[in-house]
Amino acid sequence: MNYFHYKDNQLYCEEISVQEIVEEFGTPLYLYSKNQVLDNFRAIDRAFADVDHVTCYALKANSNQSLLKLLATENAGADVVSSGELYLALKAGFQPSKITFAGVGKRDDEIEYALKQKIFSFNVESIQELDIINDIAAKLKTTARVALRINPDIDASTHPYISTGLKTNKFGIDISVAVEAFKHAASLPHLQVEGIHTHIGSQILKIDPFVQTATTIVKLVNELRGVGINIRHIDFGGGFGVAYKNAIQHPFLLVEENAESVPLREMFISSIVPILKQTGCKLIIEPGRSIVADAGILLTKVLYRKENSVKKFVIVDAGMNDLLRPSLYNAHHQIVPLTVTQGEPEVVDVVGPVCETGDFLARERKLQHVERGEFLAVLTAGAYGIVNASHYNARLGLAEVLVNGDKVRVIRERERLEDLM
Ligand SMILES: Cc1ncc(COP(=O)(O)O)c(C=O)c1O
Repeated sequence: MNYFHYKDNQLYCEEISVQEIVEEFGTPLYLYSKNQVLDNFRAIDRAFADVDHVTCYALKANSNQSLLKLLATENAGADVVSSGELYLALKAGFQPSKITFAGVGKRDDEIEYALKQKIFSFNVESIQELDIINDIAAKLKTTARVALRINPDIDASTHPYISTGLKTNKFGIDISVAVEAFKHAASLPHLQVEGIHTHIGSQILKIDPFVQTATTIVKLVNELRGVGINIRHIDFGGGFGVAYKNAIQHPFLLVEENAESVPLREMFISSIVPILKQTGCKLIIEPGRSIVADAGILLTKVLYRKENSVKKFVIVDAGMNDLLRPSLYNAHHQIVPLTVTQGEPEVVDVVGPVCETGDFLARERKLQHVERGEFLAVLTAGAYGIVNASHYNARLGLAEVLVNGDKVRVIRERERLEDLM
């Protein structure tokens, strides 16, 4: 179900008119649907129901405490990449025994903190990191549970900035030295080798790279068992792609062209589970985007319009510092008015107030004509949105609100001038 929808040509989130929300809370504003987050999480978790598994939400997608608490209450695990994310996960109530810690550059103090919290597993990204974790665990007179993140050199066919499973990417331990790395890990007295981790990228829209990766990992598990290293869990990472085009449809909205077909999450999962299941291992998955992306929108107000002989600009009050994805990856987000009307669309650049030409939310976009004072919704902004926000140009941190049915509450206060440092 899509909790963002039009009713009488007005955009609604669940049972509340979005216009009412912007009038009350102002813009720029991130707005989330609680029930969309829950539906997404439950659909993914259910698809793994017939295997022993933990769905570890990847905090990097969105680490707002209120959203985290929702997921912790659903018994989700957490995938973290810093001591900050670990702190936020613990604070929200995730059980340490369901927390995995990935990242190519874990600092010593972060390793120490995670060991003291008794997390489920470190997803180790290099041979040197194995030695460091072993040394720190020895110093603390404890043992670290580890999984080795393997880089399978498989092309996820996604944007190069979010591809992580190729030899040229900094992530993981090269598959060609994986057995040696596992043997080394098994020889270290303060490590307990538990699993294999892999994560080949984000916003993946093809099933085949997942199938290839699953097949590669199963082969490796068998090889390792052959040399006496018993792998108990496979952490398959995240990466399920979501639809950024035509996220909302309405007879008055243009159908966005060249939309890629996005397999259902259940299809991704049903293609990998039978392969991974053969090993008898417990499965961990780390979805981020597929849980929160379509549960969030960014709301912005039209400040000015201007045009010259080649361009029409719609200047809005949200910029690249609020939603970086368009500037960073040229990512597409559907942008819709809060009230749809029938009429000829115009081609515009939707740009923010930041002093960079790269500050845009959309370029050469066909959009319903909007005037100063009207609001726009930038859709599918729940993942990798607020977490990438910055104070560039000393812009104030924006507010976040959460809708549940006909209720809305603030889950992050808008910053005031006095909050700036
Ligand atoms: C190790 C790891 N796990 C999980 C994720 C979450 O990926 P996604 O948001 O695409 O599901 C990421 C993000 O790139 C990651 O690096």
